[in-house]
Amino acid sequence: MIVNTELEQKGNIFPSKIIAYKKDVDTLYFTTDNDVVLEMTIVRDSVLRFRYTTTGTFEKDFSYAITKYASKGYNLLEIEEEAESYKITTSKLICHIKKENLQVLIFDAKDHKLINEDELGFHWEESYEYGGNIVKMSKTSHDGESYYGLGDKPVELNLKGKRFENWVTDSYAFGKGTDPIYKAIPFYTGLKDKKAYGIFFDNTFRTYFDFSQERRNVTSFWAQGGEMNYYFIYGPQMEDVVANYTDLTGKPHQLPPLWALGFHQCKWSYYPESTVKEVTSKFRELKIPCDAIYLDIDYMDGFRCFTWDKNHFPDPKRMVKELADDGFKTVVIIDPGIKVDKDYWVFKEALDNDYFCKRADGPYMKGKVWPGECYFPDFTHRKVREWWSDLFRDLVENIGVRGVWNDMNEPAVMEVPNKTFPDDVRHEYDGNRCSHRKAHNVYGMQMARATYQGVKKFAYPKRPFVITRAAYSGTQRYCSTWTGDNVATWEHLWIANIQAQRMAMSGFSFAGSDIGGFAEQPSGELFTRWIQLGIFHPFFRVHSSGDHGNQEPWTFDEDVTDIVRKWIELRYQLLPYLYTSFWKYVEEGIPMLKSLVLFDQEDVHTHYRSDEFIFGDHILVCPILEPNARGRRMFIPRGDWFNFWTDQIVSGGKEMWVDADIETIPVFVKAGAIIPKYPVQQYVGEIDIDEVTLDVYFKNGKESSTLFDDAHDGYDYKKGRYSLRTFKLTGKSDELIIQQHKEGKYDAGYQRFKINLHGLPFTITKVQIDNEEIPLSELKINGDNSMIIDKGFSELHIFGK
Ligand code: GLC
Repeated sequence: MIVNTELEQKGNIFPSKIIAYKKDVDTLYFTTDNDVVLEMTIVRDSVLRFRYTTTGTFEKDFSYAITKYASKGYNLLEIEEEAESYKITTSKLICHIKKENLQVLIFDAKDHKLINEDELGFHWEESYEYGGNIVKMSKTSHDGESYYGLGDKPVELNLKGKRFENWVTDSYAFGKGTDPIYKAIPFYTGLKDKKAYGIFFDNTFRTYFDFSQERRNVTSFWAQGGEMNYYFIYGPQMEDVVANYTDLTGKPHQLPPLWALGFHQCKWSYYPESTVKEVTSKFRELKIPCDAIYLDIDYMDGFRCFTWDKNHFPDPKRMVKELADDGFKTVVIIDPGIKVDKDYWVFKEALDNDYFCKRADGPYMKGKVWPGECYFPDFTHRKVREWWSDLFRDLVENIGVRGVWNDMNEPAVMEVPNKTFPDDVRHEYDGNRCSHRKAHNVYGMQMARATYQGVKKFAYPKRPFVITRAAYSGTQRYCSTWTGDNVATWEHLWIANIQAQRMAMSGFSFAGSDIGGFAEQPSGELFTRWIQLGIFHPFFRVHSSGDHGNQEPWTFDEDVTDIVRKWIELRYQLLPYLYTSFWKYVEEGIPMLKSLVLFDQEDVHTHYRSDEFIFGDHILVCPILEPNARGRRMFIPRGDWFNFWTDQIVSGGKEMWVDADIETIPVFVKAGAIIPKYPVQQYVGEIDIDEVTLDVYFKNGKESSTLFDDAHDGYDYKKGRYSLRTFKLTGKSDELIIQQHKEGKYDAGYQRFKINLHGLPFTITKVQIDNEEIPLSELKINGDNSMIIDKGFSELHIFGK
């Protein structure tokens, strides 16, 4: 086992002088006199790829992370030879490669300021034990430079001063600072002089990142094998860095069905059928909205995937249909471990076709999971993924299951010290055969991919819904994720908040935590506070181990039930807002949650904030993270904000106390925003919506908002059958104008908007719609400044005094 403390290590080897360079369309090759080659590709004007070999030749270029749909192309590419370096210029960047030692310096092409610079740059150590190299990179880190990203790390958002490891690990009851845990997302954003750049180290071996921990002015990253292969992504806006990274590693292949953004109830385990029905009926009886119910491992026959326990679930198809009739979509768990049992058809098929992973010397990879001894399909083999995807036919097409939950796919193995496969296990890696050292971090991703392909195929023409625990960069293309086995403590509520934000800034917005905590049982107060945060997470699910009692919204006391109901109702009201922000994520890679630093990087006060975040474009949220709180101090970013509960306006750019008894948490809406809302439904599609509310928050100035809508499922939106409304608001002291621009071929079912005007600084005297005056009596203007108008308007002009 190589425990590498990067820089002080003896045995480091460095590139020597550049002796030749060659240009091939968008790629430059620099060769040194000790056989190092730097292959530098201009992916886009703002995205450069750096790849190094120490042997003069490169391995086959292959990546599970990079999508074939990534945008490519640049406007300018010039190379000049200078006395001490080569200079490469794009329209956004200037990059110098030093002749002496291959070191790289990158400048902003506009103001010529340094963005990022190699310290020692690329260097390596030969690996005696495994062959190949331990590849390393070190960069200069400046005082005041900050670092963000890396997936699910349960620590403060700003990573400066810390070191991390990426090795996906089953981490039951992890805590603050536990590292590594379930995900390996070797991508971070650096922020220097208020400008953001990103580094994506696309290497699936065990990787390490040191953000000025070992040496104050150095940030470094290294891997226990493979290539030094990283992408440099320039912003300078952090949102653009994340969007460009998401473009490279892929946006979700389609929108989720709208119901997947509703509330999900889960537990290990609801069984038998009567218990499942009791739970779902109770939701309807108590009028707590809910869209999905989960079946954990106990629905299976002896934990054999793709089977049912017929005692507990005698007729799954009937049950799933009855649940569906009541608005519940059934989601079932599927794990990678296949029980060793020669009478079990899945096991036999995989064995006959040679689909299971093997050890280096030939035996199968055998390990214990829930069913006892298991073998594990090699999901890095295309044929295995195809076979696996076909296994979902019965579950999805016949029985009618709407979603699949992939768990234990790190892969987790019980009763062994390293909790996973040994390093020598062999993988196909899609034609690049390798050991588990290289395949480990992508195993879960490839399982989720195969599951996604199956669910997608058999759910068609409906959209698939898949959730995974393990992930590598790019997994967001296929599915959603949750943050694993957390604990019902206040500290874990803090962690859940950080993780959802961090996942969003790591390109994976569709994430959430086990609300209430998986292990142990929350108090009613903690559960309430967690729901209040969870409604703002793209994936919104209560889950618990069930060992310590129940965790349904009615488990605590009536007050909790009532508050929780109100909040889940708010989630359902905000669905059009959330769906619009999901659409922006799918289209442009814009993170659905924006940490304050991502929202306003120019204000240095945001650089170390962790608790507050922006949900979508316009809603500021700050959870309550302590017991017995009646409010808290929080930072309000610059600009004017409406308190969501009181409509009181505050000016941001400062910290302040905000009241929040157990019924509320601090929520603010940006002045000028238009927030679309649906009526409350018990589940998506329960009612035909004929009126959408637009909550309009006055601003003296301009702001724009969007509303995306489509059929809420299916693929027609990809053919233009969507409706995208852009609202441009202009406010003055005595008038307010809202212009609407509509795109797309879809006519959303609703006919009217109910406009609620918040913070209007004048009394309405006249209203014009598309230049025509409408008598105030016709508009049913209420005392609370609301009015109902036809959805087709182009301009709503409100005059006042
Ligand atoms: C793992 C999962 C958890 C699940 C349990 C049983 O611990 O993380 O969500 O309930 O296995 O399947």
